[in-house]
Amino acid sequence: MADRPDGNLTRLARARPFIPPPKAIAAVKHRLAELPEGLRAHIERTRAVGLSIAFNLGVDAAKADFALAAHDLFRAAPSEALLDDARRLGWDPDDYEAAEPLLLHGPVAGLWLEKEVRFEERSVVSAITYHTTYAPGLGDLAAAVFLADKVEPGKLYRGDWLIEVRDLAFASRASDAIILYLTKLSEKLRSEGSTPHPRTAEAVAWLRDRASMKSPPPP
Ligand SMILES: [Fe+2]
Ligand SMILES: [Fe+2]
Repeated sequence: MADRPDGNLTRLARARPFIPPPKAIAAVKHRLAELPEGLRAHIERTRAVGLSIAFNLGVDAAKADFALAAHDLFRAAPSEALLDDARRLGWDPDDYEAAEPLLLHGPVAGLWLEKEVRFEERSVVSAITYHTTYAPGLGDLAAAVFLADKVEPGKLYRGDWLIEVRDLAFASRASDAIILYLTKLSEKLRSEGSTPHPRTAEAVAWLRDRASMKSPPPP
């Protein structure tokens, strides 16, 4: 079939599809098989929701799917193991992470994939690393992964506001959805006597800043 110079078929043909290396697929599959059943079910639901959110946000669904498959691979690891793995892989836990090592399950999964599996797709590694707190400077892939993790059907019962986060995500308003989620989560943590990780507030400030730069200047 002849290519149309400016048609969608031409652009699709030129796009290089993302396919994870066989070694990375095997490593993730191996660890997935060892996770508790409930966690595996959560991961499967995030992958299903993630395909729709990725499509809505115009990001590579295969990257989102692979990131979501790997995002919670260390979610069931004991605190001591998370602290040991983080340090071994080059992540220096801060005071918040030292007090609550579960915060390290994303960074450890990202670093494990990058350093031990030798997986090189930076956007996927970042999406996994920061899927709990989010972070300034992340792209649309990380946004899709973050949101799919938070609005999968098994978590929606945790608050009516999660429905709003989901609807914003499906309306392609990823920044608004993430700001709403992080703001509500921070309020909830404070009401329970906990302090949110500062990266969360930095992420909200960065997202708001970016949104204001895109907005037309006030009259
Ligand atoms: Fe997680
Ligand atoms: Fe998760």
